[in-house]
Amino acid sequence: MKKLIFIGIVFLAVCGWAVYQIIFNSVNTITQSAKNYSWAESTLSKSANEYFWDQFHLGNYDSIPVILEKLTSAYINDPNDIRTVTHLAFTHMWAIAEHQNSNKTSTIEHATMAQKYFGESYQMNPRDTRILSFLSSVKLINGSISQDDGLLKDGYLNGLKAIREWKSFSAFSLAYTMSRLPYADQKYQEAMELMRNLAFDYAANFNPKSKETQQAISEMKLLKNEHLSKDRVFYNSWVAPHNIEGFFMAYGDMLVKNGDWEEGIDVYKLARFSEQYDSWDYKDILENRIINAKANVEMFRMEIPQGQKTEIENTLLIQTKISCRSCHQMSIPDVKTFFTNYDESNLLTKSFYLVEK
Ligand code: HEC
Repeated sequence: MKKLIFIGIVFLAVCGWAVYQIIFNSVNTITQSAKNYSWAESTLSKSANEYFWDQFHLGNYDSIPVILEKLTSAYINDPNDIRTVTHLAFTHMWAIAEHQNSNKTSTIEHATMAQKYFGESYQMNPRDTRILSFLSSVKLINGSISQDDGLLKDGYLNGLKAIREWKSFSAFSLAYTMSRLPYADQKYQEAMELMRNLAFDYAANFNPKSKETQQAISEMKLLKNEHLSKDRVFYNSWVAPHNIEGFFMAYGDMLVKNGDWEEGIDVYKLARFSEQYDSWDYKDILENRIINAKANVEMFRMEIPQGQKTEIENTLLIQTKISCRSCHQMSIPDVKTFFTNYDESNLLTKSFYLVEK
């Protein structure tokens, strides 16, 4: 009995100490405490978010400062506006990911701000695991810039949580981020495995040479306003008009870097089965990758020193100036063929962001 009382006292003391640490001694930085999001869009926020989408779809990297200016004004007006906070985060992420378009040596400011806004967006709307997965990527980026093992671990664990909650989106995001690592690194092999599993979600018995797999890709028609919940991320849509092409370019690149260049060629070729392939602005880049796959094994493995300019043709997709727009850019033929009179507000509803069925 005495022993039990003793254990009880020790247990309470440990709990008390933990509560004390959490309440009085934990220091959160960057992200603020959880609060409720607002869905109401002011005129300011509507025009800032529309401007973001226009410029992002056009791939106008140089417009980033103006996009940020407009979204920041909207944020100051209403810091709970979920779309504004989310797009502020994504714009900073775009600035980091496609920094090859800029002459600046560092993206630290963008990486810090992206972590702030993804953090706030996630706290307000944890249902949107897409945000957690980008928060994870940005922590990995910040962790590696500041050589902070704790942050790297935190980012990696957030990535695994995101995969548990929305595998199809988050697995790609984590694998794509990790594709920068040396190919012999254990984590690069994990990234390959994540991509392989995703390929099997595109087609059962995935085999890029088989008619069945090719048929499955060609049957994936552009999403208009269909609400497919989480499975929507496999398709091309107004948000990512060339998602399928971008996915197979990224996966093909990773196979090539891994030395599996013949399989890489077959995977690249699957992009041709997308309904939107002919109107994709980066079709020629992919066709050249098919020709140069063998030579690209060594090219994709090369380490890129900070600030060094890369050529799209012989650099792994994530390290190029088209690392986001490969999926998100909307070409003029796209607009004329697939999106004439298209009203995206029917797609981007509240349930789209809350990821409701
Ligand atoms: C392989 C293709 C692909 C790549 C590469 C890619 N994305 Fe996406 N992105 C997607 C898909 C798919 C979605 C989810 C669409 C949905 O939820 O229906 C998405 C969603 C988004 C959204 C939508 C947010 C909203 O309001 O719903 C933004 C913004 C975005 N990505 C930005 C980026 C940025 C920045 C990069 C570069 C770091 C990037 N993406 C790289 C495919 C891609």
